[in-house]
Amino acid sequence: MGDTIMDEHDIEKYFKPDLRQARKRTRNTSERIDFLLDEKDQNIGSNRTFFIHTYGCQANEADSEIMAGILNALGFAQASSESESDLIILNTCAIRENAENRIWGELGRLKAYKRHNPDLILALAGCMPQEEYVVERVLKKYPHVDIIFGTHNIHRLPDYIRTALFSKEKVVEVYSEEGAIVESVPKLRAHAYKAWVHIMYGCDEFCTYCIVPYTRGKERSRAREDILSEVRELKNQGYREVTLLGQNVNAYGKDFKDVDYTFGDLLNDLDRIGIDRIRFATSHPHDLDRKTMEAMRDGKHVMPYFHLPVQSGSDKILKKMNRHYTSKEYLDVLGQLKETVPGISVTTDIIVGFPGETEQDFEDTMDLVKQARFEGAFTFIYSKREGTPAAKYPDETREEEKKRRLQRLNELVNELYLAGSKRFEEKTVKVLVEGYSKHGEDMMIGYTEHNKLVNFKGNKSLIGKMIDVRITKAMTWYLMGEIV
Ligand code: 5AD
Ligand code: SF4
Repeated sequence: MGDTIMDEHDIEKYFKPDLRQARKRTRNTSERIDFLLDEKDQNIGSNRTFFIHTYGCQANEADSEIMAGILNALGFAQASSESESDLIILNTCAIRENAENRIWGELGRLKAYKRHNPDLILALAGCMPQEEYVVERVLKKYPHVDIIFGTHNIHRLPDYIRTALFSKEKVVEVYSEEGAIVESVPKLRAHAYKAWVHIMYGCDEFCTYCIVPYTRGKERSRAREDILSEVRELKNQGYREVTLLGQNVNAYGKDFKDVDYTFGDLLNDLDRIGIDRIRFATSHPHDLDRKTMEAMRDGKHVMPYFHLPVQSGSDKILKKMNRHYTSKEYLDVLGQLKETVPGISVTTDIIVGFPGETEQDFEDTMDLVKQARFEGAFTFIYSKREGTPAAKYPDETREEEKKRRLQRLNELVNELYLAGSKRFEEKTVKVLVEGYSKHGEDMMIGYTEHNKLVNFKGNKSLIGKMIDVRITKAMTWYLMGEIV
């Protein structure tokens, strides 16, 4: 694990990603394998600790729990801070340039730790290593990184750790294409009452701005029995909430051969298990079907909250984004959803400044947001991702103008956010208590069924309990309440 700078020849020998290969899609159903830990690896981490930094979406948070579970099974203990750990993993996000810039900064910062502790192992994981240019840049400019692996080979972590510990060799292994669905992986969950449950991996949508179909591979669904038994076990362990994860959960089951079992069916089956709360993230509007809406309406435990990314309100931009719907079609689906599940809270994602977005296109987005009455939105300025189709589209809008659009949009979104919170004033809502609030010693926080954050007076004995809270005041970002 020398600190020498590599030349092109050295770089060639590693197992690196290829975005063009990552774009390929086959019709084969993914194989399913069980994770097995080799006996000889069971104690290789004893007397050592690890620390994982997680960036980006919930899929990465869930992946970090798997990395932590595997490390635990290898005998490593979780360190409470990075400064005292023997292994640091950065589980990275590639969705926008600023997410990546943060990681480059982190890699520079962590170099100092390596100087103090030459035995420290530093690993780069997640979506960034799935990009060719990232691996090349790390090899050339950040030689203090010991292990580089991607999203498709987390289950190979024991091999990488063994090599780094005992052979002192640099490990670079990133698969361009997804492999089998790996079951029975150990997980060290971050929370005691709410859990992430992957129901599918990958994305086949290929929105023209998005890197995810390349970094996360083809859409593949976990078998229903694997999901149901995971949720049953979580319930038995005392978990109260599960969030089902996928880049597009509405496409669940579409890759099953000869089996007609889709997301709505899964929600129905999960609801029968009786775990208190079922949530999911994230969705694509064009796959949202009636069966799903009805499962939400009929399910006792499926929460009345939906994150339904719209991205733009302009039909011209939606087409250039390859989103497969018009603004009217989006509003129609949203209307059906609100009608089927009365009172549902809907949030969204919006990109401003997509290449070619005119003032009128932006106004169309503002109009759609007003009509949709979203109760929250993640808003972004378009970020060019090398290797995606939109990276080649001419982009003439000035950065200043994009920032102005984002600001105007955010003002509108915040108004709607507050309106969505106000509808709960004077009402009593069910809250799953999570922990302490930033608002004072005896203040606690939790989320309502509609996914609204509530602050109320209480104590730590309430953590993990489901309680009734009367809402006294709605602020923009949270609600204030009192226990009834
Ligand atoms: N630039 C800006 N935002 C993006 N998103 C995805 N790719 C990009 C990009 N290149 C946003 C989308 C998506 C959310 C997770 O991130 O709004 O829904
Ligand atoms: Fe990206 Fe579109 Fe897939 Fe979402 S649906 S992950 S935005 S390609």
